[in-house]
Amino acid sequence: MGRGNAFEIAVMPGDGIGTEVTEAAIAVLRAAEERFGLGFRFETVPGGALYYRETGATLPADGMDRARAADAILFGAMGWPDIRLADGTEIAPQLDLRVGLDLYAGVRPIRAIPGVRPVLADPRWAEIDLVIIRESTEGMFASRGIGIVADDDSEARDTQVITRRTTERLTAFSCRLARRRREERGTPGRVTLVDKANVFRSFAFMRRVFHEAAAAFPDIEAGHHYVDAMALDLIRRPWDFDVLPTENLFGDILSDLGAGLIGGMGFAPSADIGDEHALFQPSHGSAPDIAGQGIANPTAMILSAALMLDWLGERHGSADARLAASAIERSVDLAFGEKGVRSYDLGGQDGTVEIGRIVAEAVRLGEADRAPPRVKAERSAHA
Ligand code: NAI
Ligand code: MG
Repeated sequence: MGRGNAFEIAVMPGDGIGTEVTEAAIAVLRAAEERFGLGFRFETVPGGALYYRETGATLPADGMDRARAADAILFGAMGWPDIRLADGTEIAPQLDLRVGLDLYAGVRPIRAIPGVRPVLADPRWAEIDLVIIRESTEGMFASRGIGIVADDDSEARDTQVITRRTTERLTAFSCRLARRRREERGTPGRVTLVDKANVFRSFAFMRRVFHEAAAAFPDIEAGHHYVDAMALDLIRRPWDFDVLPTENLFGDILSDLGAGLIGGMGFAPSADIGDEHALFQPSHGSAPDIAGQGIANPTAMILSAALMLDWLGERHGSADARLAASAIERSVDLAFGEKGVRSYDLGGQDGTVEIGRIVAEAVRLGEADRAPPRVKAERSAHA
């Protein structure tokens, strides 16, 4: 267990570019370790589609236990399109880990990185700084593996599940996050549930429980928005949003849209957080189309490692881990901003290892230390 500044990390690199971006993130973590007096013990746990093809299991028999025993899990990506289970679906141990470790809050920060070519023409693009909280243990995904196809092949059914307990925890998590972001980044302290309460009873229920639970946070502005309107508004005015909790499938879709807003999957980190455990992974998959070429953008993975340090720091009272998290985030901004790093997905020629090296070096030398924290009011003044 994490003590002081020492942490045990279960590393699950997985398939394809998962293994490549994991290596780049570890180089950055090693630099953070050196500079901030942290101590990591990395324990690699195999698993994924290739592992499944070789062994018939997606994770080793003790894989879940090893993940559970670690202080945090750093996960690359698992899956390969033509390696499939008997029912035709793909292997997805990351979904089993979410359910097995009760990782209900899928945290997907969507933040514009300086130097990345703006995706929207509006100059307020640079102010995008929101977090989608994808509920990750129920919703439509509760039907995974138990959906039915009628015997006569005439129809199929999947059923959505929304529980009071998870909705309450998701709401409290979102409100606490909005409060912390307001203190640290000057964001407005606003939580907006994304639902479809006009049509489905399950979402009307979710909205009611959300507002009941949010009432315990009177300093937080709690609102709601329909998912279809949100898809529009994430393009039209993404800078107006702060924390957006939502159902699992909606969160799956909207977080890819969000990644598109900030330069693509290569820039979109994520954290799967529960009350006891947490797993950190880029939002992207194994990217078979570019795997093995050294051209994957490791930024999403590096920022996921920063989310991991932030969570470890909060949980174990390590101010150094939290400082390291913020230094990594600012070093990424420095690399793509001032230093002009250009990954292949931006049309540049900086490869996976190179970007990892540049960010690690910036962390090690404290190059981003002088950059002020990106507080919203200050960014608006400069916009
Ligand atoms: P993907 O995210 O792997 O790739 C989608 C597109 O984005 C591809 O064109 C890819 O080249 C590009 N891309 C993704 N990450 C990138 C990066 N870091 N730098 C540059 N370009 C990047 O999604 P896809 O193709 O749908 O899935 C491929 C495999 O990954 C499938 O087997 C799928 O099941 C699995 N997968 C696993 C996930 C996980 O482990 N959490 C999440 C999503 C997919
Ligand atoms: Mg997805």
